[in-house]
Amino acid sequence: MTAQIIDGAALATDKISQLKQIVTSLQSRGITPGLATVQVGDDPASRIYVRNKVRACTAAGVNSIHHDLPGSSSEGQVLQLLNQLNNAPSVHGIIVQLPVPAHLDARRLSQAIAVAKDVDGFNWQNLGALVEGAPGILPCTPRAVMVMLENAKIAVEGRHAVVVGRSNIVGKPVALLLVGGGATVTVCNSRTPDLGAITRQADILVVATGKAGLITGGMVKPGAVVIDVGINRLPTGKIVGDVAFEEVKEIAGWITPVPGGVGPMTVAMLVENTVNAAARVQP
Ligand code: GUN
Repeated sequence: MTAQIIDGAALATDKISQLKQIVTSLQSRGITPGLATVQVGDDPASRIYVRNKVRACTAAGVNSIHHDLPGSSSEGQVLQLLNQLNNAPSVHGIIVQLPVPAHLDARRLSQAIAVAKDVDGFNWQNLGALVEGAPGILPCTPRAVMVMLENAKIAVEGRHAVVVGRSNIVGKPVALLLVGGGATVTVCNSRTPDLGAITRQADILVVATGKAGLITGGMVKPGAVVIDVGINRLPTGKIVGDVAFEEVKEIAGWITPVPGGVGPMTVAMLVENTVNAAARVQP
């Protein structure tokens, strides 16, 4: 049987129109949410991601202010811009698009963003809140995964979730959210020996490695939920995930496509984090 598709693009469109209504009501209180995006250098993939973020903001009525800094910018120059944005009342959310050029310390930049404006959820205070399950700003992709599961009415509690990938942006935080939801969680990576023996145990398989086609049909339990976070460009120019979609969709019960799966929902979560940050501002 062919898996049911979890349509992230459609869910994201719904989410953005709900957010637009919230933005309208915030505007009646004199608040227009604002997101500042910062890109240092001209990584072409980052340029596309930032453009998608700016477009989603516009669709929701959120102001977006893009700052394009040359790749030769010093850390002091980027920190100075972040400081200005931290102090700008019209800016409610700030992101520095990663990766940044090698001479910059990405960690120091992320930590320089004010906790209340850290709509990527990369600040240690927000990450600490995530560990505890306390209120804080959640990172966008992990939150997108959880919202997609919720929307498809897929229970997490009591299920075995296997996460393939151990990045700070996706693998580690999504594992924590799944733990918080009551799943039994195994975290692997692309080099885990006999990876298939572990992924075949997954009721819910989340893959975020950046390796095209890593997960093949034989590595998936029949009926499993497969969430593909990867976005890879093949030499042909085609965009694919980390999951061999055509074969895995014949085995899984649910699957997210790439493109049109987790990616658009990640962007919608960023807009949501920005709107929520603006809503917390005292009039
Ligand atoms: N690069 C890849 N994913 C992300 C993300 O979620 N946020 C930022 N700022 N950069 C990224």
